[in-house]
Amino acid sequence: MSPKKKKTDDLINFTIDGQPVQARPGWTILETAEQYHIHIPTLCFHPAVKPWGGCRLCVVEVRYGKRGKVMPSCLNPPLAKLEVFTHSERVLNVRRWVLEMLLADCPASKEIRDLAREYGVTATRFTITDPEEECLRCGRCVAVCNEVVGVQALTFGSRGVNKQLDTPYRVPNNACVACGCCVTVCPTGAMSTRLDLVRGDVSRRTGHGFAH
Ligand code: FES
Repeated sequence: MSPKKKKTDDLINFTIDGQPVQARPGWTILETAEQYHIHIPTLCFHPAVKPWGGCRLCVVEVRYGKRGKVMPSCLNPPLAKLEVFTHSERVLNVRRWVLEMLLADCPASKEIRDLAREYGVTATRFTITDPEEECLRCGRCVAVCNEVVGVQALTFGSRGVNKQLDTPYRVPNNACVACGCCVTVCPTGAMSTRLDLVRGDVSRRTGHGFAH
């Protein structure tokens, strides 16, 4: 007898904060939580672009049998019988740690300060290098420019602590079509003050294809 063919539309049964939930194949833990109106905070995630797990704010604790760990919910799919906890002490500790780092990275961002305060974080132990910084380098703007608009006018220059939003080769370029998608998806509003750096002096352009 041929082995039973597994149906691709089998639902995955698991629990979030003790509540039984069902995920469709391909859904992440975050997507499933959203279907059930269970709030998990996010920053780098945006439904228009592929998740990349940059900020780690969406971490949840997952327990499977005797094993347990903390993982980003925007990247990971659930397994049957998984127990997911969105606000366990372990999760809250990681989120507070992430928020402290973000307070140091973008201390001028009201959105980050408000979010940090929700978690009881009002100061950071990390070094603040630029008190005026609002950009948290979440990558939403880069991703939407690449994946949705398809023009690659934005990139990240340098790596690690020196990672900065930039343009390819650090020069404004004709690739930017001034569509404003990067401004729309920016969670802190930082992109609205950087748009001119990307598109340069529009009146001196020789290229074509920007929206006006
Ligand atoms: S929202 Fe999941 S890692 Fe940023």
